[in-house]
Amino acid sequence: MKILQFTDIHLTRQGDIIGGRDPNANFAKALAHALDLHGDAEALFITGDLSDWGDEDDYARLKSIIADIPMPVHLMIGNHDDRQLFTSVFPELGNADGFVQYAVKMSQGTALCLDTWGPNTHAGHFCEDRARWLTAQLKQIEGPVWLFMHHNPVPIHVAPMDKIMLLDAERFGATIAPFAQKIRHIFHGHCHLPLSGSLHGIPFSAPRGTNHAGWPDFSATRLLASAELPESYAVIFATPDSVMTHMVEFGYAGEIKGEGTPDYADWDRMTMVR
Ligand SMILES: [Fe+2]
Ligand SMILES: [Fe+2]
Repeated sequence: MKILQFTDIHLTRQGDIIGGRDPNANFAKALAHALDLHGDAEALFITGDLSDWGDEDDYARLKSIIADIPMPVHLMIGNHDDRQLFTSVFPELGNADGFVQYAVKMSQGTALCLDTWGPNTHAGHFCEDRARWLTAQLKQIEGPVWLFMHHNPVPIHVAPMDKIMLLDAERFGATIAPFAQKIRHIFHGHCHLPLSGSLHGIPFSAPRGTNHAGWPDFSATRLLASAELPESYAVIFATPDSVMTHMVEFGYAGEIKGEGTPDYADWDRMTMVR
């Protein structure tokens, strides 16, 4: 199974710039890059912060863009989104409880897309209603499960980011822990940082994002830090026994050099002096 993850696309009014970069242009560039090199992926997941200001126009534009993408695209909302406006444009993604939570059948198991949005806050939420839905899904699904969500469920140890992580992390952890054998991986976004780790033994990862880049300033107390690092998305390969996640820095504009062959006999200290 091969899948793509974009995160934090932050679409905004045409021409508007975020962090010195054009999110609409970068989303188009990420799509062109990913479809050119990874058009054989079976799905693209976009893990939230779809719109920078939760504007209806951004959702309408996103809808028309993904209509032309030759693979299924699965959307989640983040703190920058507006759930009501999002579901007015994508009514099929809202569940009976009003959350943007749904299951997607994959070639290997099932993906569960989660809603960690809360009103008037950048922090993430996972209330009892959402936990009940997730428990019911995890009980009912037999095969491997892949979780996709916007907010990070584990602190990154950067104080200003940790104020806006998934605040209900304990409830989330307690919900997934009994199913740790079934859940293969958690994919999140939100931090604009490449991250990996585990929660109750379940691995998670996040790529940087397709527009503005964060920087892990471990001494920060109030301000979120940013840096001029390349725009990125993730490519994920999974077999029944393994998962490999790459962060592809499609925004990197430098040279890509040949680095020799993998053949042992070709490696010679004298000829490899650069
Ligand atoms: Fe974001
Ligand atoms: Fe976010």
